[in-house]
Amino acid sequence: MAKKIKCALIGFGGMGHFHSAQYAKQKYVELVAICDSDPASFKEKEAEINLGKSGESDLGNVKFFTSYEEMVSSVEFDMLDICLPCPLHAEYAIRAMKDGYHVLCEKPMARTSADAAKMIETSAKTGKKLMIAQCLRFANNFRKIKEMYDSGKYGKLLRLDMRRNGGLPKKVWYRDPAQSGGALLDLHLHDTDFIQYLLGAPEKVMTFGIERTTGGIDDLMSNYVYASGGPKVSSEGSWCRGAWYSSTVAVFEKATVDFCDEGVRVCPVDGKEKIIKVPASPNPYFNEIAYFSECIVKNKDVEVCTPESTRLSIVIAEAEEKSARTGKMVTVKK
Ligand SMILES: NC(=O)c1ccc[n+]([C@@H]2O[C@H](COP(=O)([O-])OP(=O)(O)OC[C@H]3O[C@@H](n4cnc5c(N)ncnc54)[C@H](O)[C@@H]3O)[C@@H](O)[C@H]2O)c1
Repeated sequence: MAKKIKCALIGFGGMGHFHSAQYAKQKYVELVAICDSDPASFKEKEAEINLGKSGESDLGNVKFFTSYEEMVSSVEFDMLDICLPCPLHAEYAIRAMKDGYHVLCEKPMARTSADAAKMIETSAKTGKKLMIAQCLRFANNFRKIKEMYDSGKYGKLLRLDMRRNGGLPKKVWYRDPAQSGGALLDLHLHDTDFIQYLLGAPEKVMTFGIERTTGGIDDLMSNYVYASGGPKVSSEGSWCRGAWYSSTVAVFEKATVDFCDEGVRVCPVDGKEKIIKVPASPNPYFNEIAYFSECIVKNKDVEVCTPESTRLSIVIAEAEEKSARTGKMVTVKK
């Protein structure tokens, strides 16, 4: 069996617990250290967020630290998994790459596209790999939609609609738009990113959005304008809803495709509905860690989720915010 690279994780809150639970069965990487400024997080066996429970992690061989400096001076590792709040992503990713580590970083890549550009610059200068954990790109059901789109199996994509709605997150930093970017950057970005991954950047966006509690855009509906003949694309995101709700509907020329409990449902224009069974496991967090660690071990380029492409998603989100705030259609400056 190939020798595994070593990973340290920083930020052991909700997402940190989701990530740490994925390392036990990885082929190319093992988790050796966890850092969180709040030592109380080390006692939480699992975390619960809007996605459900993280599951427990095997932390038998993991060392715990309360600062990045202490961790890097005490343990050797190859890759840093960043699960910190968004405003710390650029700072720690840049620092880690300069210190010689490959970086897997939670979404959003950074609080601004300008900070995201600095991360890309550092990756190029240091030669360290950088990937942002845009998890929908690694989810088995979303992968199926991408396969269908790329293969043209059901003809041209005419219409895509994505929705991701829930209540206001509990953690204080999420409620400060200067830190989180509000529902638009923090939550809705998942869909913006998947749309861009599938179709490229739209020419323009028209977003209707409201501020309610945080001062950020808390609830929104975006329309993405592609060149004439392109698909009609919309996406809704909210932190103002009671129950959690997400959906994805792709209307191709020959079939309409959406998700159901068993996987992906295909309703052909002519013919009977069929369900393509898609296992929920391994989950996207397992898949993204597996993919990135394999890229490091085999020295392959990170193609599924390049830093340039995740920066572009933030550029689009910034255009959406401008549109929501001005009430005007905004051109996406690629
Ligand atoms: N991919 C997804 O589905 C998904 C879901 C939820 C959150 N996220 C993203 O994950 C990131 C983290 O979100 P979260 O909900 O886990 O946040 P969180 O607040 O639950 O966890 C962040 C942790 O970082 C620690 N921390 C803060 N500053 C630190 C520092 N300087 N050094 C060490 N530790 C520090 C905090 O103590 C906390 O435990 C965010 O960017 C968020 O958008 C992604």
